[in-house]
Amino acid sequence: MEIYTTPTGMQAQSLNWKRQGKRIGLVPTMGFLHEGHLSLMDIAAAHADLVVVSIFVNPTQFGPSEDLEAYPRNLERDLALCRERGVAAVFTPEPSDVYGPEYQSYVSLEKLPNHLCGLSRPVHFRGVATVVSKLFNIVLPDLAVFGEKDFQQLAVIRRLTADLNFPVRIMGGPIVREADGLAMSSRNAYLSPEERVSALCLSMALKHVASEVEKGERDVALLKASTEKIILSRPHTEIDYIAFCDPQTLEAVDSIGGPVLMALAVKVGSTRLIDNQVF
Ligand code: PAJ
Repeated sequence: MEIYTTPTGMQAQSLNWKRQGKRIGLVPTMGFLHEGHLSLMDIAAAHADLVVVSIFVNPTQFGPSEDLEAYPRNLERDLALCRERGVAAVFTPEPSDVYGPEYQSYVSLEKLPNHLCGLSRPVHFRGVATVVSKLFNIVLPDLAVFGEKDFQQLAVIRRLTADLNFPVRIMGGPIVREADGLAMSSRNAYLSPEERVSALCLSMALKHVASEVEKGERDVALLKASTEKIILSRPHTEIDYIAFCDPQTLEAVDSIGGPVLMALAVKVGSTRLIDNQVF
């Protein structure tokens, strides 16, 4: 497995592979890898000749009061997991290699970030869209795989790829969960044992709503009220949003007609967790 720390080194290798006619599958990550990340590598491997994983805690997608400094890291373990999974190369640059002192170019979207996580994390999607655009230019992938766990992020990346004509196929991977239902996340490492129990309220609320919708409930206000009850019945929880929206535009809906995305963001202690499901 090759390890590249500079954009020029990574790009030179990718150009080499392209000249040999190899199809490159990219899995962008911020490291502290778990089964969710590994499942995306398997999807990439099934559709490309070789897989490149990026491991980069991207400073531009963190707000000033967010967890950039505290974000969990374990590069040695991540590299071992990538090696085991048959990854061809890991790209793991330093922030200064990605954003030089004169850096001033950003990619921002006009509509999709004005919903859900974009409301409480104002600079987040500009940072994500910028770094993903840069990764596409550095790694030159034929396809890139992102998790449905970050549903809005996947929507933003599909939009920017189409809007900016990146010749990259975007694929989504299903949410990978712990045995008890908690969606895997690098941030789960922050949870105390007591908070870990409370954190189950997100997947429980999604399950509850799914069964209510199955039984015929269509009223979003009622579904929101029962979701709120489930979440707030647990200690240390604080709701950021409970949203029902159009999965394409992310605009809010007030009844379940066609396909609807239910998305949750909940603070458990000081850890912000998200989860979602499409009905
Ligand atoms: P990170 O949070 O490390 O996630 C990397 C990828 O793994 C994302 O596409 C995310 O949706 C996916 N993922 C996370 N948890 C998952 C789970 N439980 N099941 C399936 N997929 C899961 O998302 C980012 O990093 C960054 O914003 C990034 C795209 C790398 C840009 O910096």
